[in-house]
Amino acid sequence: MGEPEADALGAFTCAAKGFGEQTSDGIWQAMFPGWDTPEGRRRHAEKLGQKWKDTGKDKNGIPHAVFLKAVLTDEDGTERIIGYSIWTQYSGVEGHGVTPPNSDQQLQTAKEKYPDDEREARFSHLIMRSLNRQRIEAIWAKVNDDNPAALVLDICVVDPAFQGRGAAKRMVQYGVEEAKRRGDLELMTEGSAMGRHVYTQFGFQQEGPEMDYGMPAEFQDRKMPSNIFMRTRPQKSI
Ligand SMILES: CC(C)(COP(=O)(O)OP(=O)(O)OC[C@H]1O[C@@H](n2cnc3c(N)ncnc32)[C@H](O)[C@@H]1OP(=O)(O)O)[C@@H](O)C(=O)NCCC(=O)NCCS
Repeated sequence: MGEPEADALGAFTCAAKGFGEQTSDGIWQAMFPGWDTPEGRRRHAEKLGQKWKDTGKDKNGIPHAVFLKAVLTDEDGTERIIGYSIWTQYSGVEGHGVTPPNSDQQLQTAKEKYPDDEREARFSHLIMRSLNRQRIEAIWAKVNDDNPAALVLDICVVDPAFQGRGAAKRMVQYGVEEAKRRGDLELMTEGSAMGRHVYTQFGFQQEGPEMDYGMPAEFQDRKMPSNIFMRTRPQKSI
């Protein structure tokens, strides 16, 4: 990406349109309260820019995360952000990537998002824990490997007005090449109904069944998106 502050709002706005409006993704919406207000978008964009600036490095000085923006250049040379993605290197071994968050850390994040709403904080915590459970287990299962890291597609979204032009495919292609540069890392992600069609073309395979978020009765009425865990070196057949 270019300058964090300048790009983050454009990137977050794409996510608000793609996940917030187009697919009404209940998980994404729960993670970004206020996404549908200008003030909320600004606040989340600021955090996104900060996260980008704060990206740590592994023992070889390689940044843990790569923030990619998909851009269209207008005739007058103005750049318009039409999508973005984040690839993050995770590992259970220090110096090899970001340590996957444990349940307490996920709860803390949820409480920060909903400081005055215990119920929504609980929902946000449970849903994130369920969504990321398989990827976290898969990353920890690598601690004894020669290269104990994985490159994970944390988010990938394209503004609905610019979908179908190959933006997502180019961002995924970048991740595939980056994983090779980083020592032939495995790739992982959670595939939404729209995303899985793209990831399959780059060697991702489904591992395990369609996600069952295991929500308690009080949250059974929430509309949950379809997701599957996907990786390039699956361990078990489905
Ligand atoms: C999934 C997503 C990122 C794909 O972005 P994109 O830039 O449109 O994807 P691409 O143009 O690279 O196309 C990928 C494939 O999807 C197809 N496609 C993309 N949008 C489409 C649409 N609205 N209708 C039909 N097909 C579509 C493309 O034709 C292409 O298929 P092909 O390779 O068989 O030709 C985008 O649809 C999106 O942001 N969706 C909402 C949020 C989401 O679910 N993100 C993924 C989270 S895992």
